[in-house]
Amino acid sequence: MPERAEIGRWIDQIPQPYTETDARAFLAGGTDAFARLAVTEARDGTVVGGVGVHRLDAPGVAEIGYWARAEVRGRGLTTRAAALAARWVIGAHGVERVQLRAEVQNTASRRVAEKAGFRLEGILRSADWSPRQQRRYDWAMYSLLPGDLESERNAS
Ligand SMILES: CC(C)(COP(=O)(O)OP(=O)(O)OC[C@H]1O[C@@H](n2cnc3c(N)ncnc32)[C@H](O)[C@@H]1OP(=O)(O)O)[C@@H](O)C(=O)NCCC(=O)NCCS
Repeated sequence: MPERAEIGRWIDQIPQPYTETDARAFLAGGTDAFARLAVTEARDGTVVGGVGVHRLDAPGVAEIGYWARAEVRGRGLTTRAAALAARWVIGAHGVERVQLRAEVQNTASRRVAEKAGFRLEGILRSADWSPRQQRRYDWAMYSLLPGDLESERNAS
């Protein structure tokens, strides 16, 4: 499966095919995000991934999502980026809950969530419909709260 299609398989919000109009609309932004961050190679600034920190309707709640180009996967880049972004939105915006939903079968994403310090709350069964895959699926729901960072600090 081509890389773009593979990323889109897991993230229904990314239009496919992805046109220049889609890219421009994304860059124009909106009010739904605390931040839309690029993950770049330190040596030359090449964009190799992205992390979005979105606002949810519930007060004090953010949701994080991410992707990485196939050739950089497995280096821990997304884990580091997601961990930093989650801690940033708590510190800079006073967010009380950062949540992260991964399709249950998305093992790599779930591993990132765990390594970034998120806690698994449970499985939301039959929680959404994927038009691309033409099937319903389950979400693994993770969260990180400011109090979790306290216990992290105490543990180190
Ligand atoms: C999920 C994704 C962002 C991970 O990016 P990454 O930069 O490779 O992440 P990291 O290197 O920080 O960590 C990946 C972890 O998943 C593990 N992993 C990857 N594929 C796996 C698989 N098929 N089975 C088990 N573990 C897997 C890696 O071994 C690594 O864990 P480890 O450090 O314990 O070995 C990337 O795979 C991706 O873009 N996927 C498509 C888009 C997507 O699913 N986004 C998330 C939507 S919720």
